Amino acid sequence: MNQISSSKSLDHYPVMLDKVLEICSPQKGGLFVDCTFGSGGYSSAILSSPNTKVIAIDRDLNTQKYAKDIKNKFKNRFEFHNIKFSELDKVVKKTQKVDAIIFDLGLSSLQIKNLDRGFSFNSKAKPDMRMGLNTLSGSEVINNFELQTLKDIFRIFGEESESFRIASNIIAERKKKSITLIPDLIKIIQRSKKKDFKKKINVSTKVFQAIRIFVNKEISELINGLIKATKLVNENGKIIVISFHSIEDRIVKYFFTNFSGNKSRSSRYYPENIEKKSLFKNYKNKIIRPSELEVEKNNASRSAKLRYVIRNEQDFFYPKDIEEKFINYLELERRND
Ligand SMILES: C[S@@+](CC[C@H](N)C(=O)[O-])C[C@H]1O[C@@H](n2cnc3c(N)ncnc32)[C@H](O)[C@@H]1O
Repeated sequence: MNQISSSKSLDHYPVMLDKVLEICSPQKGGLFVDCTFGSGGYSSAILSSPNTKVIAIDRDLNTQKYAKDIKNKFKNRFEFHNIKFSELDKVVKKTQKVDAIIFDLGLSSLQIKNLDRGFSFNSKAKPDMRMGLNTLSGSEVINNFELQTLKDIFRIFGEESESFRIASNIIAERKKKSITLIPDLIKIIQRSKKKDFKKKINVSTKVFQAIRIFVNKEISELINGLIKATKLVNENGKIIVISFHSIEDRIVKYFFTNFSGNKSRSSRYYPENIEKKSLFKNYKNKIIRPSELEVEKNNASRSAKLRYVIRNEQDFFYPKDIEEKFINYLELERRND
């Protein structure tokens, strides 16, 4: 049966499941790490092949109930850890010879649909937006952070062109009374934005994305997760990333391209046959997208982009470039330490 139709009973629809399975080839057996367990769509599909083991991670404790069901079924072929994937090395050891590590980034439909968590514009709750294992909430950011930081968050993580006006109006409004609920925040954003009826997206989309990235430190999570996955995955093992917005995809693309064997010469005077230090086999910069059928069945998959790399035989070295390249994102997230 097609994997898409067989996964209908899950609360979250696993994006491009067939592709992920094709890349992982679990039918050959092996050890897999599912860094974003959610309701376990990938984990359970992998475990349905014999001789497979899955180590699953999710920062959201609400996912534990799905992990318990899978544990009951697959016993010691499965383990779950409620940690952030930037701490991957706490639960996976290099000696374990991991065949593939998967990151399906962002929010699950469970998180979006639970209106109390404040991720959705349709929520009447507080703009909390914490995925789990956080310190600050969205409400605290909106009510306590200074103008400059709010503006930077909206501009840098939301790529919001009217970041200054929105941040100034938030400050003015909260001087009168705290901004407690999502409808209050949405009113401020709507009032701050110039009307553009041609725009298809909700006027609050960018600000919501920005707050969510900042609150959950999604950029440092991604960068550290990728670095640790590279250190832990076996030679010929795969790192698979499904991303949903352009900042995530930019980071993944840079990391895979810059540290793969086919990175272009930095200068035409640089000899072509000199052995280059790299971490991955040739990377073709190929993006895999969901089929029209999948998008029709699950509209949330429409912006998904899948990229994967294969680890080469070279020893791990710390890929410092990636931190330097995205230093503006990392420095901004440090204001949430
Ligand atoms: C898109 S969902 C994954 C859905 C999953 N593939 C499935 O089939 O159900 C993303 C999940 O990753 C988790 N997550 C996001 N960032 C994380 C991080 N840095 N560390 C651990 N879990 C994370 C979220 O809590 C959420 O449950």
